[in-house]
Amino acid sequence: MAMKKIPMSNNNASVVFLAFLASLVCSVTASVSYDSKAITINGQRRILISGSIHYPRSSPEMWPDLIQKAKEGGLDVIQTYVFWNGHEPSPGKYYFEGNYDLVKFVKLVKEGGLYVNLRIGPYVCAEWNFGGFPVWLKYIPGINFRTDNGPFKAQMQRFTTKIVNIMKAERLFESQGGPIILSQIENEYGPVEYELGSPGQAYTNWAAEMAVGLRTGVPWIMCKQDDAPDPIINTCNGFYCDYFSPNKAYKPKMWTEAWTGWFTQFGGPVPHRPAEDMAFSVASFIQKGGSFINYYMYHGGTNFGRTAGGPFIATSYDYDAPLDEYGLLRQPKWGHLKDLHRAIKLCEPALVSGDATVIPLGNYQEAHVYNYKAGGCAAFLANYHQRSFAKVSFRNMHYNLPPWSISILPDCKNTVYNTARVGAQSATIKMSPVPMHGGFSWQTYNEEPSSSGDNTFTTVGLLEQINTTRDVSDYLWYMTDVHIDPSEGFLKSGKYPVLTVLSAGHALHVFINGQLSGTAYGSLDFPKLTFSQGVRLRAGVNKISLLSIAVGLPNVGPHFETWNAGILGPVTLNGLNDGRRDLSWQKWSYKIGLHGEALSLHSISGSSSVEWAEGSLVAQKQSLSWYKTTFNAPAGNSPLALDMGSMGKGQIWINGQHVGRHWPAYKASGTCGECTYIGTYNENKCSTNCGEASQRWYHVPQSWLKPAGNLLVVFEEWGGDPNGISLVRREVDSVCADIYEWQPTLMNYQMQASGNVNKPLRPKAHLSCGPGQKIRSIKFASFGTPEGVCGSYRQGSCHAFHSYDAFNNLCVGQNSCSVTVAPEMFGGDPCPECHEETSSRGHLQLMTCYSRSK
Ligand code: GAL
Repeated sequence: MAMKKIPMSNNNASVVFLAFLASLVCSVTASVSYDSKAITINGQRRILISGSIHYPRSSPEMWPDLIQKAKEGGLDVIQTYVFWNGHEPSPGKYYFEGNYDLVKFVKLVKEGGLYVNLRIGPYVCAEWNFGGFPVWLKYIPGINFRTDNGPFKAQMQRFTTKIVNIMKAERLFESQGGPIILSQIENEYGPVEYELGSPGQAYTNWAAEMAVGLRTGVPWIMCKQDDAPDPIINTCNGFYCDYFSPNKAYKPKMWTEAWTGWFTQFGGPVPHRPAEDMAFSVASFIQKGGSFINYYMYHGGTNFGRTAGGPFIATSYDYDAPLDEYGLLRQPKWGHLKDLHRAIKLCEPALVSGDATVIPLGNYQEAHVYNYKAGGCAAFLANYHQRSFAKVSFRNMHYNLPPWSISILPDCKNTVYNTARVGAQSATIKMSPVPMHGGFSWQTYNEEPSSSGDNTFTTVGLLEQINTTRDVSDYLWYMTDVHIDPSEGFLKSGKYPVLTVLSAGHALHVFINGQLSGTAYGSLDFPKLTFSQGVRLRAGVNKISLLSIAVGLPNVGPHFETWNAGILGPVTLNGLNDGRRDLSWQKWSYKIGLHGEALSLHSISGSSSVEWAEGSLVAQKQSLSWYKTTFNAPAGNSPLALDMGSMGKGQIWINGQHVGRHWPAYKASGTCGECTYIGTYNENKCSTNCGEASQRWYHVPQSWLKPAGNLLVVFEEWGGDPNGISLVRREVDSVCADIYEWQPTLMNYQMQASGNVNKPLRPKAHLSCGPGQKIRSIKFASFGTPEGVCGSYRQGSCHAFHSYDAFNNLCVGQNSCSVTVAPEMFGGDPCPECHEETSSRGHLQLMTCYSRSK
């Protein structure tokens, strides 16, 4: 996108000069503190815009680009959790390599010129396996998580200290000249404390004291913790936080999680949060005195391997964030928020000067006015009405405010931004198959449904799954024998007995004498499941093999660490001659994990340890199948994914690296309807994918590939068609601009502020393709009242015939272009009688769509 030059007034120049001087000082000795208004850095109050990027949810090769895009998007700070179970996979054995290289990540953020908000936790929630706790922690004698418990506190203190010491040794706190300006202890503990009462309170006080005692030299925060002890700042998390105030008048109003969308769960639709409402929520927080906002997530990324929690959290953690799972700009969200940040920053000196004066402008309208120290003011004009435009008058000027929107006036006069007027370009993204001669050529290896034998152990009764596997694998086999007497009536009638299995979750495949007989699974809201189905038993001994599967351990909820998984019973057979037979208390054999896992079939060396079948022997719709193939990396550096639409459920590896769990057979149920930005948002409001796979595409980081001979291994539990799997590129297909004639422009304000122009400037349509791409053609342009959304525009009742001319001339063949939106550019005003408030999309609207060309 073209960058606008920002002319500076004398006033602005001096502010920038001071900030520059301060940042020079910063890198030597810096102090971070706070007062009632804001976080202060070297004594200066700051309005800080932050965004969450969790380092293990992308590859280190992606980090510099994500950080750069965050910076271009107007961020000052990157926020991340620290993921204990990734860093200490077994007690005392630490791992800080690859995508767990926390020091490298923090240093890259510094190099990118941004600050860091380090949320050490070490409980993190985050839809992450076990909320970030290592599973071994649960097996420390006498431990009780997140309460006033000696063994837990000792472990928490040990790990927190370890992280703080690493950061100190690398001089990464701002007090040492590093980028970390804030740290967080615990995460949303308030509601848990409320349930626990006094042990909860004691734990809060201990955690606060412990953290402060680590002397990082920068402030600590606790989110959703109304009683956070001094000097810790309590902060807000939510879709909106304008109503929030900190627990002491001398603490600033901070929003640590402004949810940009929501996570996807297997079985659920894909949530989206409109850019206009996101901007509205942030503008209303700032207008009401907020001074720190963090987008959760700014880049959501991917739950690689078995890191997803839940249970049932999908492998994609896209979150509808401004940077999508693959690191591409999500437009118009990224651009609309970038414009918002510029508008807020223009007001920063006024915002940090003191409190706002609130002036009612109507029943649903109000102004928040902030005075500059040097004179003058900045204002936010809000219209909370959910249907109507509002004409308001403020300081003898008239303003037209769209419903559910806030206008920002850095000089109390000119509107430079309105949250409901998206000036940023939008884009449609496509997943295009990478040409591969004849597709993947698969080999297959069948995992036998387990029966007692190698690595099994036998006991009476049913065992809880996590206690048994300690989460080294998703899979646990429960196996038993059932003797059927030849006199059983069903052998003649063919009315098979019903096997009923009650499981605490999360998924189950039932094999009878080696044949898949049925499958059952739960959901995030209800992980428990019941399998109840007629099963083909024969006279004599029958092998019942139940494959119980965990799909991520819980990460939130009261004492989530105690929740069970696996077949706890009863397991019964009904419809035998003597009625019901309870199998729960007979002898069961157990096997942890799959045979293929024990052989490391996903790895290059392990995969050559067995005979693989090829050609017509590659079975389709076959349960418990391992598939492997090799392929060469495609040309170019577009992000890549595997289209798993033809598969059922299982896991994927590339060159031994674990992509994650696939489960496209779990179709999304929920409500996917009309989506309007207007009105209070919640995670169920603007979903897509109902009736389709919750997740069809699985991100393959480019850096995991070598030029040739990449090993792709898929384990399929349920049955799918591997020939339907393809490698796809994620690319910008078309970009669109949707410009309103009334679009506020930052340029107008800046030109006026510098005294260079008297008459308002016309808005411009700015369009740009991805790096290395050019605009091939104009798919659609209409200066008038066009309808539809990017990718499916159509002409409205009014349309200027020369709408395409300017675009064809100025844009085709270019990487980017800007076109002024004014009637004379398109052969005159096609509908002079239209008015902003009578037309939902604006009077003279212009939309263009550009398709990619290479
Ligand atoms: C918050 C929590 C985050 C994340 C979020 C939902 O309550 O602090 O870690 O789980 O909910 O995505």
